[in-house]
Amino acid sequence: MASITIRKLDDTVKAYLRLRSASNGRSVEEEVRVILGELIQGRPEQPGATSPSPAAAAAVPPPRAVSATGEAYVTLIIGGGIAAYKSLDLIRRLKERHINVRCVLTKAAQQFVTPLAASALSHERVYTDLFDPESEFDAGHIRLARECDLIVVAPATADLMAKMAQGHADDLASAILLAANRPILLAPAMNPLMWNNAATRRNVLQLRRDGVVMIGPNAGEMAEAGEAGVGRMSEAAEIAAAAADILRPPRPRPLAGKRVLITAGPTHEPIDPVRYIANRSSGKQGFAIAAAAQAAGADVTLVSGPVELRDPAGVTVIRVESARDMLHKVEAALPADIAIFAAAVADWRVANEGEQKLKKTAAGMPPLQLVENPDILATISKLKEKRPPLVIGFAAETEHLIDNAKAKIARKGCDWIVANDVSPASGVMGGDRNTVHLLTREGADKIGVDSINVESWPVMTKEQVATELVAKIAKTVEKTT
Ligand SMILES: Cc1cc2nc3c(=O)[nH]c(=O)nc-3n(C[C@H](O)[C@H](O)[C@H](O)COP(=O)(O)O)c2cc1C
Repeated sequence: MASITIRKLDDTVKAYLRLRSASNGRSVEEEVRVILGELIQGRPEQPGATSPSPAAAAAVPPPRAVSATGEAYVTLIIGGGIAAYKSLDLIRRLKERHINVRCVLTKAAQQFVTPLAASALSHERVYTDLFDPESEFDAGHIRLARECDLIVVAPATADLMAKMAQGHADDLASAILLAANRPILLAPAMNPLMWNNAATRRNVLQLRRDGVVMIGPNAGEMAEAGEAGVGRMSEAAEIAAAAADILRPPRPRPLAGKRVLITAGPTHEPIDPVRYIANRSSGKQGFAIAAAAQAAGADVTLVSGPVELRDPAGVTVIRVESARDMLHKVEAALPADIAIFAAAVADWRVANEGEQKLKKTAAGMPPLQLVENPDILATISKLKEKRPPLVIGFAAETEHLIDNAKAKIARKGCDWIVANDVSPASGVMGGDRNTVHLLTREGADKIGVDSINVESWPVMTKEQVATELVAKIAKTVEKTT
């Protein structure tokens, strides 16, 4: 994708852009984007002709080029307080949460931390000066105020809060805050006497009324020897969490407090030290369910056979090889409220696994005698103690899908079966999509095939199947508790 350096444009074009962007209350970069959009839609707009007033424009968030990818951006204003050193950690904490950070340092902040440190940690240019010809060519302070999803001020000094409350704009930080139409999160930090001063109290009240969100300050010891009270800046992790909550409001967590045990992937059944019997399961469906259950607030343990997938965030992942390993780890992970057996466990293993690599001999191929593996789904479904209240199996079939799945639910004693067609034409094994049928038993005591409900879902991605399944589980859990 081509990019345009506005500085390198022809002087007449620059003058036109400046005039037009000023009259429309946009930055030059935003104005260029609008012009390109209009050209594509075939309705160019004249400078100022039909544009809203700057005040009205400010009320409507302009397009955020930097956020077009769906990533979150924070403009972090670091004020001149002793707690500024904690803001360097805050940059890291925000980035850990995949939030991009652009820093602005006040003149006083630069007495405490350097722009170089902030730039090295944020991997972005740091802004310090309202009258910087390079960034102000296209109204940089407006861009910093608007081309982000949230403005965080940490530490928010008494001075910065006073300026905000009064609407001052005599430096880059205060100009950004005055030009902002994004949410603002302040993390005040100051001496307790400053915090409790009547002027600060008035400013805090005013800022809250203006819709500014505050975190802290906390009580504790001050940097000044022997002083303690309310005024310590909140910890970096607390501020990052508050920022994340504003950016992505917490989703409902219907499985909070529930333990969910999930199996995924194939198993490898050794023939000798270098060979094994396996199947084509990728583990994608089980991993997607683990991620969806975790997102719904559950405490998730995922027992997985050998797969090439990254551990889902926040999930306890136990890696195993064979069906017997998998059963041991599943049993050790009990009790659980919900167990979902999505793994494609090998039905058989080699009875006489070779201790050394099997060799070709004149006698021909060594016979491989197979014995049955433990049936994890049936074992757990039939436990007298520690049986999870909801046990869900997966049926991977290549023919007579529903009939086989109905027979399986009755035979194994589980509560639900997710049946999927894994014939090569379906592309389910190893693919990203799945077409499933959810079979549920009506009533705890009935295990005849007649009492089984079948719900057929349309083709979906494995993530969508996971989300739907978890939503269904959450509904059932809600009814029974
Ligand atoms: C060593 C030292 C520590 C300071 N710590 C704080 C502080 O924690 N909170 C505060 O509001 N002001 C503090 N100040 C005062 C601010 O630096 C001063 O009000 C400055 O003008 C703030 O500028 P700014 O709000 O533009 O960053 C401190 C000053 C010094 C010299």
